[in-house]
Amino acid sequence: MAGVWRCTLAVVALMCVCLLDSADAVGGAKSRPRPQRRPPKKPKVEPIGPTASPAQNIDIERMTGIWYLLTAASKCSYLINHGTKVEPTVMNFTRSSASDETLFVRTKTRHNHQCWEIVQVYYLTPTPGQLLLKGARPEQNTEIVIWDTDYESYAIVYYQKLGKITIKLFSRSVDDLSEPVLTKFEEHAEKQNFGLAYLFPFPTYSHCGTVDQNHVISKLKLQGPEHKGEAMRNTLLKMMVALMCALAACADIAPVNDFDLEKMAGKWYIVGFATNAQWFVNHKANMKVGTAMLVATEGGDLDLSYANLNADGTCWRMTHLAKKTETPGRFTFHSQVWNNDNDMRVVDVVYDNYALVHTVKTKEGVSEVLNKLYSRTPEASDALQQKFTQFSLETGILSDNIVILPANAECPEV
Ligand SMILES: *[C@@H]1O[C@H](CO)[C@@H](O)[C@H](O)[C@H]1NC(C)=O
Repeated sequence: MAGVWRCTLAVVALMCVCLLDSADAVGGAKSRPRPQRRPPKKPKVEPIGPTASPAQNIDIERMTGIWYLLTAASKCSYLINHGTKVEPTVMNFTRSSASDETLFVRTKTRHNHQCWEIVQVYYLTPTPGQLLLKGARPEQNTEIVIWDTDYESYAIVYYQKLGKITIKLFSRSVDDLSEPVLTKFEEHAEKQNFGLAYLFPFPTYSHCGTVDQNHVISKLKLQGPEHKGEAMRNTLLKMMVALMCALAACADIAPVNDFDLEKMAGKWYIVGFATNAQWFVNHKANMKVGTAMLVATEGGDLDLSYANLNADGTCWRMTHLAKKTETPGRFTFHSQVWNNDNDMRVVDVVYDNYALVHTVKTKEGVSEVLNKLYSRTPEASDALQQKFTQFSLETGILSDNIVILPANAECPEV
């Protein structure tokens, strides 16, 4: 039993990473071709309401049965990185009895050619069509709203957790949905600021059939007597939480709590670099440690000045004014040089030691992730390197593209 669970643990750990954002780094399935689309419009800046209300009076009984996940609209880094490699996902909604206040949800998806089934319970609420997936703490609950459905062919479902929204389009069959439904979904997603770059189509073939009991994950199993160690139990529970979150709403990478701009300022060395961007794949072998000078402006923005000494003794320099957002530790800026929009978050920081900086770069509707490891010293400890590698893997960077940079002389200060 222990052996099975160790194996389960390992795979579940991997799954967390993948499912955390409903995507899979390794799977080989290709997405279905996207239907023809209208040219992207400028996203309307429309604040996301507290919670979407169902568009109609939902009859939960008629929602039971099989639903194939066709498309997810989400801003998860993991999905952005691996959106073309998501695995076929199918859900089976069942009720134990009409009077029962719950909906059983079995999700089948694949990881590394292995089919898994995850069992969840959605609680009904007094509002028809509005459901609740309970988290470990109330603030981690996920609100689920069946926003629009005809019961027979499609359903548009909202998942909201910690203020983040994921919208999913489900279909009763794997055949492509009608164009009007796709258009409806896209328009709806666009209203919530999910442009085409944030729509992830799922494969419509190779769904899992029967899943053997060793690969069924449910909370009930976690409470079973076979897990004696408290630590083990906690680990599993934590993973379950990650999975739950994964299966429902994709949480964005959040900046660190209590971000302190003043303490972030000063000189840093960029000692780690991780991105799947093609330019990096081509040039990573030649990249070395560079410096970053961070200056806090009076308005709360961050002046970034980067410098790297080239092999020929010249200096490559770049500056950005990273503008603060309403979330401390999150900044945005437009790069003139690369013509891209940058959404940057300080994810983890010990101000006199290191900082993990996660940036989503978007150009012409295509996004990619760049993680940087900032260090106050030119060399990062092994522990820090590991932390950076782990974080980068979790945000979907391939291990080959996670680089601890070799030492380098510095550019003169300007
Ligand atoms: C959906 O789940 C129910 C209850 O477990 C089961 O009886 C039914 O066969 C499932 N449907 C499919 C297609 O797997």
